[in-house]
Amino acid sequence: MNIARLRRFIADMTSLVGGAWQDRDEAAIVEVGRTLLVDLVKHDDWLPDSMAKCPPHGFAANLLWCDPFERFSIVSVVWAAGAETPVHDHQVWGLVGILRGSETSQRFVLDPASGAIAKGSRAILGPGEVEVLSPANDIHQVANALGDGNSISIHVYGGNIGAMRRRRFDPASGAASEFVSGYSNREMPNLWVG
Ligand code: FE2
Repeated sequence: MNIARLRRFIADMTSLVGGAWQDRDEAAIVEVGRTLLVDLVKHDDWLPDSMAKCPPHGFAANLLWCDPFERFSIVSVVWAAGAETPVHDHQVWGLVGILRGSETSQRFVLDPASGAIAKGSRAILGPGEVEVLSPANDIHQVANALGDGNSISIHVYGGNIGAMRRRRFDPASGAASEFVSGYSNREMPNLWVG
């Protein structure tokens, strides 16, 4: 297992947010971070097995790293066959790269006047592809595109995503409720052994 890939990615992201953060230059972080994540997920030789275990139903969200100043976090999401999230937002920038399998991201558009939400574009992402989320327009529902296999995606967010108050939406009424997603794992990868 080539854990050095993850270690280098963390180092590069730390440099990136350290440089761009002072200007709150989200566009620069997302643009460069996207290329870094593309590089990471085009190789599938670095994710520890303990972070790739699939639950029997639904999905596991394993924290791989959280920046000590909570400027970014990295999560591996392991999807059981047919699993999907609620419709939700993120409150911060996000990058989602596919490591194994495939997933769909169905966007929703919020009408601020009526509070209703309507379906927007739908993307199907395969291995090595990265989706960008910006808090200005990031309501979506994600699902494992494989009905008979696991998928794994690597997520990078502009904060400690598992601890943030976010919103989930009833797709029929648009009604929003707050949630805090937490993390599935108790132990994080050893970046120096493997
Ligand atoms: Fe999401």
